[in-house]
Amino acid sequence: MKNPMDDFVDKLQEQIFEETRKVYGEEVFNRWQNPKFMGKMTNASCVGRLTGNCGDSMEIYLRIRNDKVEEASFFTEGCGASVACGSMVAELATGKDLEEASQIGGDAVLMALGGLPEEENHCAFLAAETLLAAIHEWMLQSSKAKER
Ligand code: FES
Repeated sequence: MKNPMDDFVDKLQEQIFEETRKVYGEEVFNRWQNPKFMGKMTNASCVGRLTGNCGDSMEIYLRIRNDKVEEASFFTEGCGASVACGSMVAELATGKDLEEASQIGGDAVLMALGGLPEEENHCAFLAAETLLAAIHEWMLQSSKAKER
């Protein structure tokens, strides 16, 4: 038989999940619960790391081959929205050439996620700017390699 306290906790959690789903939508909720592409890539070609004004940090890892993003991942210990945004940025960047990937902005991330509450829009821009920082890092490495 289930302990009444466990029952209470289960119901409370279900209520919180339901509220979160309503506020953030299905896409954000699912990525927060099951963040695709999350993890620090050990064999990345380049990494972007930024900390937003909110104090949260984002890392984007890219594996690049023939000027194309072969694989992307992200890592953050930030808010739930930043987890969803990092996941979406990694997904959007995968398979794109560097020119296309560098054009993924915060608005594209927000659109792909179905939007965020306005006060959390900056989470999408942080993720997109971190992707750009990773691409810049790659370009810097490439131009240094050409000088040698
Ligand atoms: Fe800082 Fe979301 S509140 S990235």
